[in-house]
Amino acid sequence: MNVLLLGSGGREHALAWKLAASPLLTRLYAAPGNPGVAEQAELVALDISDHAAVVAFCRDMKIDLVVVGPEAPLVSGIGDDLRAAGIRVFGPSKAAARLEGSKGFTKDLCARFNIPTAAYGRFDNLADSRAYVEKVGAPIVIKADGLAAGKGVTVAMSLAEAFDALGACFDGSFGSAGAEVVVEEFMTGEEASFFCLCDGTTALPFGTAQDHKRVGDGDVGPNTGGMGAYSPAPVMTPEMVERTMREIIEPTMRGMAELGSPFAGVLFAGLMITDQGPRLIEYNTRFGDPECQVLMMRLKDDLLVLLNAAADGQLGHMSVRWTDDTALTVVMAAAGYPGTPEKGSVIRGIDAARAEGAEVFHAGTAVNAGALVANGGRVLNVSATGRTVGEAQKRAYAAVDRIDWPQGFCRRDIGWRAVEREEAR
Ligand code: AMP
Ligand code: GLY
Repeated sequence: MNVLLLGSGGREHALAWKLAASPLLTRLYAAPGNPGVAEQAELVALDISDHAAVVAFCRDMKIDLVVVGPEAPLVSGIGDDLRAAGIRVFGPSKAAARLEGSKGFTKDLCARFNIPTAAYGRFDNLADSRAYVEKVGAPIVIKADGLAAGKGVTVAMSLAEAFDALGACFDGSFGSAGAEVVVEEFMTGEEASFFCLCDGTTALPFGTAQDHKRVGDGDVGPNTGGMGAYSPAPVMTPEMVERTMREIIEPTMRGMAELGSPFAGVLFAGLMITDQGPRLIEYNTRFGDPECQVLMMRLKDDLLVLLNAAADGQLGHMSVRWTDDTALTVVMAAAGYPGTPEKGSVIRGIDAARAEGAEVFHAGTAVNAGALVANGGRVLNVSATGRTVGEAQKRAYAAVDRIDWPQGFCRRDIGWRAVEREEAR
């Protein structure tokens, strides 16, 4: 099979690494990819927001399956444009990607199909949203409706903070993504990420993870796209997975089918595990980054076989096997992240880190005059496995310490809650 992978981050490097191991694979292309992805795939300089150019490339190169990494092309309908051209694709339609592209859409779906989530209101103006916030009180959560690169959510501990966040949305700080706002109840509990492969009808559980969103050790400081993750998530016991499937995922699959937009692709549920059980925080319609990296480290089966089955409506016949080990990834970021990262500093030591038994996925790198340099906020994902979270953590940091990149930084405590629990046992 010829496969085209779209995207350029650590998630896509991990997918390329796993796809390249498939005996079904003939040629793997990636657009635009990165220097890490280039170890497994032939890079193609395609603008992936130009759907017609992607379709033309697929025709020329006889692509049998397109795997879409990031959300933006899905939300703008690349799945529909490829399917209309007769090209097989792993990823949802534009209508199904509303689960990520519109928070209000997802909240209305939850209300209609009785899916546990935070109570909410949807607003298109400041006055009504302020009145709702005043009525409910703080803490309260304000969300821009559309895609805002992970920056559209404010967990407001005071009314003043909530009013500021509403002001920012309706001021246009998030562009059209903020023209509508969801205001929701503040939930407490432990967060977990839950993944399913979906084919329109069947949802096949595809692993759990926990990530660290804050930039600083101890989970403090500004939010980021994720500074590290580990899998499995200890809170996602078999009973909790079963409840999540029954109470959240299956009604979502039935609801989407009933609305005429069956969901196929990766369904990534951000969950709050509360005293009453799992509640949905939000959906994404793609793999998490860096959660994908730890899932791929643990997946025993052929990823390409599974993605084909999802594209063909055949997941009902499939099962998935994982190693019992924990996988843990540490994000190495460029100085300045999550603000403006410093670009262009030289990175050495990737081979030495890999010699420690870790995988090093490239997230934001480039080659400049023959040297590997930083080219983004999150730059490397140093990933290792172990029998316990503690062992995976030790191995990952042993590899991190072999990376020679003075301008980079990372958190030193990825997995700390799980490690503390292991040590308390
Ligand atoms: P999101 O971008 O929707 O995943 O939100 C970012 C983060 O905000 C989540 O990972 C949670 O930590 C937090 N959050 C979002 N919604 C809620 C909520 N209703 N209650 C408490 N925390 C929330
Ligand atoms: N790491 C969180 C996300 O990919 O949305």
